[in-house]
Amino acid sequence: MNDKPNSIEARDIAYHLHPYTNAKKHLEAGPLVIDRGEGIYVFDNNGKRYIEAMAGLWSVGVGFNEERLVNAATEQMKRLPYYHTFTHKSHGPVIELAEKLVGMAPVPMSKAFFTNSGSEAIDTALKLIWYRANALGQPERKKIIVRNRAYHGVTIAAACLTSLPANHRSFDLIVPDVLRMTCPHHWREALPGESEEDFATRLAKELEDTILAEGPETIAAFFGEPVQGAGGVVVPPATYWQKVQAVLRKYDILLVADEVICGFGRTGTMFGSTTYGIEPDIMVMSKQLSSSYLPASALMMNDRVFGPIMEESDRIGTLGHGYTASGHPVAAAVALENLKIIEERDLVGNAAAMGRRLRDGLDALTDHPLVGEVRGVGLIAAVELVTDREARTALETPGALGALVNAHLQEAGLISRAMTDAIAFCPPLIITEGEIDELLSLFRIGLDKTLAALPKGSVRA
Ligand SMILES: Cc1ncc(COP(=O)(O)O)c(C=O)c1O
Repeated sequence: MNDKPNSIEARDIAYHLHPYTNAKKHLEAGPLVIDRGEGIYVFDNNGKRYIEAMAGLWSVGVGFNEERLVNAATEQMKRLPYYHTFTHKSHGPVIELAEKLVGMAPVPMSKAFFTNSGSEAIDTALKLIWYRANALGQPERKKIIVRNRAYHGVTIAAACLTSLPANHRSFDLIVPDVLRMTCPHHWREALPGESEEDFATRLAKELEDTILAEGPETIAAFFGEPVQGAGGVVVPPATYWQKVQAVLRKYDILLVADEVICGFGRTGTMFGSTTYGIEPDIMVMSKQLSSSYLPASALMMNDRVFGPIMEESDRIGTLGHGYTASGHPVAAAVALENLKIIEERDLVGNAAAMGRRLRDGLDALTDHPLVGEVRGVGLIAAVELVTDREARTALETPGALGALVNAHLQEAGLISRAMTDAIAFCPPLIITEGEIDELLSLFRIGLDKTLAALPKGSVRA
């Protein structure tokens, strides 16, 4: 850390409380200050270059210096920098974006509603689902089903649907009746000798048993990320979603696909729902919607959801929900241009092709003593780190090995993310073959440096 009293690092320490950071440790460690971006790279304030192998927070699909997005924002700022969408008001960019999203949806959707973050969109989905249940005269239908290791955000309701301990501890969350199913991670959760198919069947049965035990008429919806992201890049068994959907349909339970990470190409098709044949009633989108150049998120709903909401808003007199920046014109203009770029440059096809190269390269590391499992789909992957491959365990403190590897990667010029002891890769969709190879060679360097730094005898290959 730079300890000059007026350095940018010292001022960050003095004035800035960081999200997802140990606030006390930050006083000592200080920030990594990122100064500029170029393609898949970012540069810190000392000029050091890093591959941004997480696309920021799984989000900067088109890379870090896309002029067309800058121009789209500038033009819209000049024309109409702000207007709202309350009380029947509208504007060109939000109308065009709503039409575009409904047109892109993998299953028939009726309407798009705009929000500013993934968490707000999830909260909105939950509120609309409860509103709908009341509209249908089913006030008891309020319970929500999620999976262990789910990540749906951090606002109070979204954090309740998230199933990661750090998002709950000491926060006194208040949404009742959230039911948590087994995480569909075969490597971790399968019984000895259980095939992926049998594992998926068992999880579908767990879901059905839970629904029956609780009373189907009390369950409002199932929320799920097609591929769980922050919970460790959990790629479900091939038939998992098919089996889960069959159960939900049987009991008339809504399915919400949280496409915040998977949406717009990440899994090698336009949506995670496309990759897994998911037919959601609600889709939640953010991140790659605008490549995070500006905050933007949205949810789409089908007629089954919209119809009762429409009736209830008429009964009450208004839909009493919305944000000052719902459908912000500058964010909407940026999102539209971003989607145009994704389509014109076939970044979805590139994600599929580069994802295969990334996966092949990671698979080639499975003989490394610290690599327990490689998993991924499209251009999202994770490597589970272990110090004992047979026992599938890492160092005694969960997350210690992940943090160590991550620190070595950062030193080598690769920004990744450790989720407990899994290292995630989710680079910008524009990544090239040469850049994938560079990422892989930096990863190997980080693994080797970590191995060399661990005490002798602590690793069982
Ligand atoms: C799947 C998923 N849902 C929701 C969210 C919450 O989004 P935000 O951080 O914009 O509130 C995230 C964020 O990473 C996410 O990955």
